[in-house]
Amino acid sequence: MGIHKDAASFANFDEVSIYHIDLDLKVNFEQKVIDGYAVLRMKCHKSTNKVILDSRDLSIKDVHYNGDSMPYKAVDHGVLGQSLNIDIPHTESGKEFDLVVYYCTSPTASALQFVDKELTADKNQPFLYSQCQAIHARSIIPCMDTPAIKQTYNARVQVPKGITCLMSAIGYGKDNRENDAKVKEWHVDGSYKDGLDYIFYDGYEAFLFKQPQRMPSYLFAIVAGDLEKRDISDRCAVWAEPSMVDKARWEFEDTEIMLKTAEELLGKYRWGRYDLIVLPPFFPFGGMENPCLTFVTPTIIAGDRSLTNVIAHEIAHSWTGNLVTNANWEHFWLNEGFTVFCERKIMGRIYGEGVRQFENICGWEDRMLPVINETFNPTHEFTKLCPCLNGIDPDDAYSTIPYEKGSALLLVLEQKLGDSARFEQFLRDYIDKFAGQSVVTDDWKQFLYAKYSDKKDVLDSIDWNGWLLEAGVPPNTPEFDDETLKDCRHLAKVWTDGTNEEVENLDTKVFNDLSSDMKVKVLDCIETSGKAFTGERFLKLFKKYDLENCGNCEVIFSFSLIALKSKYKPLVPFMIDFVTRQGRLKYVKPIFNKLFKWDEMRELAIAKFQENVPFMHPITAQVISKMI
Ligand code: BES
Ligand code: ZN
Repeated sequence: MGIHKDAASFANFDEVSIYHIDLDLKVNFEQKVIDGYAVLRMKCHKSTNKVILDSRDLSIKDVHYNGDSMPYKAVDHGVLGQSLNIDIPHTESGKEFDLVVYYCTSPTASALQFVDKELTADKNQPFLYSQCQAIHARSIIPCMDTPAIKQTYNARVQVPKGITCLMSAIGYGKDNRENDAKVKEWHVDGSYKDGLDYIFYDGYEAFLFKQPQRMPSYLFAIVAGDLEKRDISDRCAVWAEPSMVDKARWEFEDTEIMLKTAEELLGKYRWGRYDLIVLPPFFPFGGMENPCLTFVTPTIIAGDRSLTNVIAHEIAHSWTGNLVTNANWEHFWLNEGFTVFCERKIMGRIYGEGVRQFENICGWEDRMLPVINETFNPTHEFTKLCPCLNGIDPDDAYSTIPYEKGSALLLVLEQKLGDSARFEQFLRDYIDKFAGQSVVTDDWKQFLYAKYSDKKDVLDSIDWNGWLLEAGVPPNTPEFDDETLKDCRHLAKVWTDGTNEEVENLDTKVFNDLSSDMKVKVLDCIETSGKAFTGERFLKLFKKYDLENCGNCEVIFSFSLIALKSKYKPLVPFMIDFVTRQGRLKYVKPIFNKLFKWDEMRELAIAKFQENVPFMHPITAQVISKMI
């Protein structure tokens, strides 16, 4: 609380900050740009004569202060983009004013992917979507691109007729110039004033949006394409291209149940609607918690609802992240570690405590330890829960560490403090106390000590330095109940240590009858055993379980890692196909990384990557090219 610095933003938000943004934009699919203006409503905290905004590759046409044109200068800062230094008349502390920035995005805007219609599922209309976290909002809106600052926003976005536009906000329908009551209601709050262009473009339609909850810039989001909607409940729906929408509706059937369970755990849902939008396969993440409208990759539509923990995760962000927000990216674990902890609580309440235990163990064993020890090394800065990110692009520091080390810390605390119901009450109190604010680790820790003043000795026994500031494996391991895992471990051991005959005699049905999660666990146990397979054994595994025809991306990823560890060449084309037909960084980054490090495959992998750059999301292309 108070004002926290953010090394990734140039904004002078200690002097002046934005509390509301009005956007009037047009999506131009031919030029692959968004064009228009942003009205920034600002309040001065210290008297000043300048406003510094963040931007990246924006072409700025004009800047107005209360209606008058102002001088400005863009200064380049490499990976962090350009600061936009605007001179304003001397303004006293406490004063409010409007800044209007007329601008156009670049066709290379890092937050945007324009997908040609031939590359969409239905090939009917082109598609556009954004991804602003961590610091890409500045490439679509000149703003204070730091999670330390929160604002409400309204938007009017014009898209070609036939295309539907959605944002991380409540939709108010179309502005059809008729005096329809909804539109009127929307305009009362919007600050469209005399002097601003208020244009209707021929062949375009204007969609209206309102986000009445203050939110950080990384939660700005826009989608436009050939979209249809299916309701799940009176506040949840799924959006997708027409050919996918029914399948998606089936897969995400449990969304309302998850949302209700999250409310029991965390308090009332405060964002009105909770909708889902299924994006094209190049979307770099599993899910993104944009308010009112979670973005998801189509790769979680497995056909058996086995990957819907991603939905529980994004739902949990409605509290941990979107209400209580990390003040800068060094405290990212406050968003992700808390959210993973809550995601698993939600899954446990709906599908049984065993599911939660299982996820906790897999998180620790398969998603944290190998990343500390192999992807990085135990002294690497990025293995700290609170790393130093000075001069670093948060995309480069992104890993599972804040997720798994963070949720493990909460698990250890819950176990040491000894009363789950009380710990869950503490979580709700933490959310109530800091809702609408941005926090750092110390804010949370002080609140923890205040709420558990009767348990100070227990809290003092935690090695806080070790957990929060030191690199490597955390000082304590949570207690796990690994009963459900015995069979997975046993089966994996036959594959890694058994004779050819023992492997031959394995009953195929045992594996095939496992849930997808358990299959993944068997494969991950094989992979993390440290024992490389011979090509012959890998082929046997692949054929016996018919992995070639498996549609579950988590399973595909896990056996790809075994093939990579065993340097099994015949699977390379399959893996290259996998990392070019979808763009989820979680899969694409490690597979390309391992192919690049495999001498014999390096050249081929680089060539295939370069061939695919035009279809890739700009964030993915950027992250992968840095590994070469
Ligand atoms: N907010 C993240 C995605 C993100 C983080 C994008 C940082 C850009 C920068 C999202 O909530 C997330 O964590 N997604 C995970 C889901 C998983 C942990 C269930 C993913 O994409 O895999
Ligand atoms: Zn998350």
